[in-house]
Amino acid sequence: MSLAELRALDSAHVIGTYARLPVEIVRGAGSRVWDDEGHEYLDLLCGISVTNLGHCHPDVVAAVREQVGTLMHVSNLFHTEPAIRLAERLATRSLGGKVFFCNSGAEANEAAMKLARRARPRGEIVSVAGGFHGRTFGALSATAQESKQAPFEPLVPRVRAVAPTAEAIVGAVGPETAAVLVEVIQGESGVHPLAAETLIAAREACDRHGAALIFDEVQTGMGRTGSLWAYEQTGVVPCALTTAKALGGGLPIGALITGPRLADALKAGDHGSTFAGGPVVARAALAALELTDDPALLARVAQLGEHLREQLAALDGVTDVRGRGLMIGFDLEGGRAPDFVLQLLTEQRLIANATGPETVRLLPPLTLSDADAQDALARIAAALAAHRA
Ligand SMILES: Cc1ncc(COP(=O)(O)O)c(C=O)c1O
Repeated sequence: MSLAELRALDSAHVIGTYARLPVEIVRGAGSRVWDDEGHEYLDLLCGISVTNLGHCHPDVVAAVREQVGTLMHVSNLFHTEPAIRLAERLATRSLGGKVFFCNSGAEANEAAMKLARRARPRGEIVSVAGGFHGRTFGALSATAQESKQAPFEPLVPRVRAVAPTAEAIVGAVGPETAAVLVEVIQGESGVHPLAAETLIAAREACDRHGAALIFDEVQTGMGRTGSLWAYEQTGVVPCALTTAKALGGGLPIGALITGPRLADALKAGDHGSTFAGGPVVARAALAALELTDDPALLARVAQLGEHLREQLAALDGVTDVRGRGLMIGFDLEGGRAPDFVLQLLTEQRLIANATGPETVRLLPPLTLSDADAQDALARIAAALAAHRA
């Protein structure tokens, strides 16, 4: 089927919630994908931080292949080893409590919000402006963006957003607060790290009032910022964290991970999901975690990220560069990021994404080689030069 035919079929039959780019991707391997005409693209977006280990990593593929022919699904009415081993691994490599599995980032945040309300009945959930936590009703209620929320009001009660500052958070947290839910680095709003003092103040305010500090690590987790979890670089340990995206090495799985205090707040029957923690995705996630939780890989992510940010900052037309590890945002003068991203795709065959009119976001594979990094910089520089011409 031609791309034109596919696009016609898409607009006739798929609910139009996505503004898709005019390319059909048919195959991926490592840091590259190919379209239906055989063109090769350097993928610096990783399906929005999902294929962090590159496309179709052989270890993930092997684990999935083996599991898919053995047991695909049996429900959470039974014990299955992959999910239980994965929970043990995730909890020991983070907050030391327990894990609830789900299928996406939004669901992980739903679980986190229910956990917090269970621990403090009727309590308020405080999020911050510029945050993104997903599109389901609970997660959307914590995603303080007028354009996303307004068409779906009324939202979940007793969820409110304040400014992403220490002062605003401290002012909002009190004895009736169930949780503060924040990203360590806001991804969808353009790669904006929260200040260390803000996270510290949130931690102290939550401690003072017995509220849960929850970090949404859906985008920042699984090695993206140069440590397995972004919180490890902040000096602030949350009461719980949420993860998804890269957790399954390309397959859909999410998780809420708690510290010891909240490990038993949710009781039997309080929450659940049919597919959650199924054996195939759990095997994929075990393989992905094994590969990602590697000090050499994580150190390289930190160092390569620094290098890319330095090089990007030196390019003509780039006004600001932000991020940590391989979570990178750079601003362009003139507010033409969406056009620039389209130009990168069609002329340079490089996949990036615009988080808004100003900001281009790069979420490259953690396995990006030096040669591919140089190649990417050359393509971005060439696109910038053409953009100005
Ligand atoms: C920080 C953060 N939280 C939650 C989500 C929602 O995840 P999902 O799209 O898997 O529901 C996203 C997605 O971009 C995200 O970046």
